[in-house]
Amino acid sequence: MRKQILFSVALLLLSILSSVSVVAQDVIPQPNNISYSKGYFTLNKGLKAVTNLTGQDFKVLNQFTSDDMDMPLISMKKPSKAYNVRLICTGTALQATQAQDSARLQGYELEVSPKSITIQSLTPTGLFYGLLTLAQLEKGRQIPCVKVKDTPRFPYRGLMIDCSRHFWTKKFIMKQLDAMAYFKLNRFHWHLTDGGGWRMEVKQYPRLTNETAYRTQSDWVKWWMEKDRKYCPVGTPGAYGGYYTQQDIKDIVRYAAARHITVIPEIEMPGHSDEVVYAYPELSCTGKPYTQSDLCVGKEKTYTFLENVLKEVMQLFPSEYIHIGGDEAERRTWNTCPDCQRLMKEHNLKNTAELQSYFTHRIEQFLNKNGRKLLGWDEIMEGNLAPNAAVMSWRGTDAGIEAAKHKHHVVMTPQQYYYLNMYQDDPMGQPKAQGGYTRLDKIYSYNPLPMTYKGTDVEKYMDGVQACVWTEFISEPDHLEYMLYPRLFALAETGWTKKPTGYVDFHKRALVNVERLKKEGYHVFDLSKEKGPREESRSITTHEALGKPVTYLGRYSEKYRAEGDSSLVNGLRGDWGYLEGRWQGFIDSTGMDVVVDMGKITDIRDVEVDFMHMYDVVIYAPESVTLMVSDDGKNYKTIDKVNPGIKSNVPYLLYPYVWKGNVKGRYVRMKALSREPDAWIFTDEIIINRK
Ligand code: ACM
Ligand code: ZN
Repeated sequence: MRKQILFSVALLLLSILSSVSVVAQDVIPQPNNISYSKGYFTLNKGLKAVTNLTGQDFKVLNQFTSDDMDMPLISMKKPSKAYNVRLICTGTALQATQAQDSARLQGYELEVSPKSITIQSLTPTGLFYGLLTLAQLEKGRQIPCVKVKDTPRFPYRGLMIDCSRHFWTKKFIMKQLDAMAYFKLNRFHWHLTDGGGWRMEVKQYPRLTNETAYRTQSDWVKWWMEKDRKYCPVGTPGAYGGYYTQQDIKDIVRYAAARHITVIPEIEMPGHSDEVVYAYPELSCTGKPYTQSDLCVGKEKTYTFLENVLKEVMQLFPSEYIHIGGDEAERRTWNTCPDCQRLMKEHNLKNTAELQSYFTHRIEQFLNKNGRKLLGWDEIMEGNLAPNAAVMSWRGTDAGIEAAKHKHHVVMTPQQYYYLNMYQDDPMGQPKAQGGYTRLDKIYSYNPLPMTYKGTDVEKYMDGVQACVWTEFISEPDHLEYMLYPRLFALAETGWTKKPTGYVDFHKRALVNVERLKKEGYHVFDLSKEKGPREESRSITTHEALGKPVTYLGRYSEKYRAEGDSSLVNGLRGDWGYLEGRWQGFIDSTGMDVVVDMGKITDIRDVEVDFMHMYDVVIYAPESVTLMVSDDGKNYKTIDKVNPGIKSNVPYLLYPYVWKGNVKGRYVRMKALSREPDAWIFTDEIIINRK
């Protein structure tokens, strides 16, 4: 008996030693179930692999194994064990077509021993993902012996690229599709139309591209700010722009499909349509281009136009979902337009939100009639959400949760985590980005589905996650890649891995994959040189004013209240961005006007305050900063006044106000005035010291 127990313990130890469940060292996204054992399989030259896939599925997989792994495939009805590498599809043709919408059908099992590799899946998609894991495990033609049983957390893992504000070539898009596939992303949301220019050839409406795909200058910000900005006809010498021909689109859709990526086109409506109402002014409320972004939703001809455009879209894009935008419609001209007003009366619509909702319902009916589904930004929930619509939650996460609770499919793309046009490191060392600071670890920290939603409709209807990159400030391909990678890795992992292994482990794997992408010719943010959080924000700053009462003579905005009245004396300094709840924002004409009560008459030797300047979000260093002291809180003596003189168009800096001297007083008052009525002042702490 005793012998038997010892024998069992020995067996157990042996199995622990020879098969250890650990993280896959270099693989992103981390597989859900992986265990290593001793030894390696060597990818010898001339190695052949066999699969039971046929036709297009075989062709696609063979191209990948031949090109990327130097391992051509043979198609065989019953893959013979005589071959060392076998890729076996066990599901039906119907399951293959359903894979994009089912996490289960995207799963695979991979087993590597010193003598053989087997990948099994219900679908060609799963086999593809098994191969990608294999490719990422490979080091110097050797693959460690593993057993992997892996299914993604969500069926939808996407990336959106804004191709309107700046135009990206077909070749560039294909290069990003390669990287997306490598990290097992499977939706490319193609933002094809917006005020920056219409980018899709539409045969029935050639003016869309002929008249608006080009503009007078490449820099979108400069162009957009011009009083008389202009689109230019195709062929205008020196004009900036471009568009995708229908052939280009077919090529991209096919290229993506070969990588198990569905392309979801976005045709913006009824807002963000400046270019449409320029090309076809009769589709606007006023008939005057350059004066509104919205289509007129009261005119029948708008619906005819959109249906005709969508017919061509549906011919080119097999995606079940068609994205119709729906965000940020101004709804301004609808208030006075006779057509819009008539429609509102006719249908008893109480406000313009309900008018937009009427519009979305009609577009949805058209798409549904044609066997497609509507996807839109979360504004489509205002009014009354169309019955079968899916929602992309970008203004935070609440809208997505709410939509899922009401049994609408949802994709989470909250801007504070997943907008990759924000800064990723100290903005002073970064190319220009949009206001906001989204470091890799912040993206990694986002959990779209906390435990509280387990087993609820929120879990059931949450399809997945998506990163978005808007290109107002991004005009060069290298710059765009720099914004995407490595941050896209974190999204890929959140979308795939059910139990994250933690940021420290992820960071190690991200460093490896940064190098891999660099080797492949991608222009990647060098994670190894990341500065990380602002030094001052990492620990509590102690000073004499800590915890003292503060009176606001110029009130902060509730939207950017940070920690309210205690915020400027709580020792917590802000990070590089203004959205993390430490920077306090002032927008009133009184500016920032704050009194710190030191409790008793105090020797004051040193006052320091940082002001943020972030041009793109109209946070400006102040026009003037005045420092005053008082013994009674009524009569103040000015001891310093400075005009920082920072040019407003400097992209980003932190202006350090410092006063050093020797003064006595109980009340310390700091007044900072804004340089323009609509500009914000942001500060994080008033540091007061006695020496
Ligand atoms: C959006 O960022 N307007 C969807
Ligand atoms: Zn109208």
